[in-house]
Amino acid sequence: MTENTALRAAEFWEARYRDGGRLWSGRPNPLLVREASGLGPGNALDLGCGEGADAVWLASRGWQVTGVDIAHTALERAALHAAEAGVSDRAVWERHVLGETFPEGSFDLVNAQFLQSPIALDQRRILRRAAAAVSAGGTLLIVMHAGWPSWQSEPPFEVEFPTLQSVLDELALPEHDWTVQTLDTVRSVSVSPDGVDGFRDDNVWRIRRGAA
Ligand SMILES: C[S@@+](CC[C@H](N)C(=O)[O-])C[C@H]1O[C@@H](n2cnc3c(N)ncnc32)[C@H](O)[C@@H]1O
Repeated sequence: MTENTALRAAEFWEARYRDGGRLWSGRPNPLLVREASGLGPGNALDLGCGEGADAVWLASRGWQVTGVDIAHTALERAALHAAEAGVSDRAVWERHVLGETFPEGSFDLVNAQFLQSPIALDQRRILRRAAAAVSAGGTLLIVMHAGWPSWQSEPPFEVEFPTLQSVLDELALPEHDWTVQTLDTVRSVSVSPDGVDGFRDDNVWRIRRGAA
């Protein structure tokens, strides 16, 4: 990521959070809940944590969570959300421009939900670094939109929608050390801002560091 791209990404996301009021629902992502309910607790890293709903959900289940985002405003809201939920002692918030810097340490769960951006994001590098941060026996959980919602006729901007296989290829995790536990495309209901019913597909990768 060039310095210029990092700056543009930071400005874009900061403005989205600052100018738009609360951006997300405040509820944990359903695919995190589906995939992580049977795990841990331990220590977890949430990449692109936004306003912190996933991190707060994990912390409320006993995880010690590090939430990371590029946007200061998102991290401030996440810290507030954690305080309101009474889990501030189990959550820390770090600003990183992923692709450039990455949190220290290793984690029992590395979660990346919809780490997708209209500003170029070095997803491959970030996901490889995410895999390297998973401890032995830990889990890498990635969820990404697989495409635009069915009602979106004109894409509002360009964004990458990696396939299930392309992420596995990029990660190139050795089979003797990793087990793919979920590799799935999940369709959910999606309603457009003006009320048109539709659906959206999301891809899920849950990969455990350890042989089968
Ligand atoms: C689509 S949102 C998803 C937020 C949250 N994970 C969720 O599912 O609600 C993408 C998030 O990634 C963050 N982000 C984008 N590029 C980033 C980067 N290079 N480093 C760190 N965070 C980044 C954005 O600020 C935003 O909060």
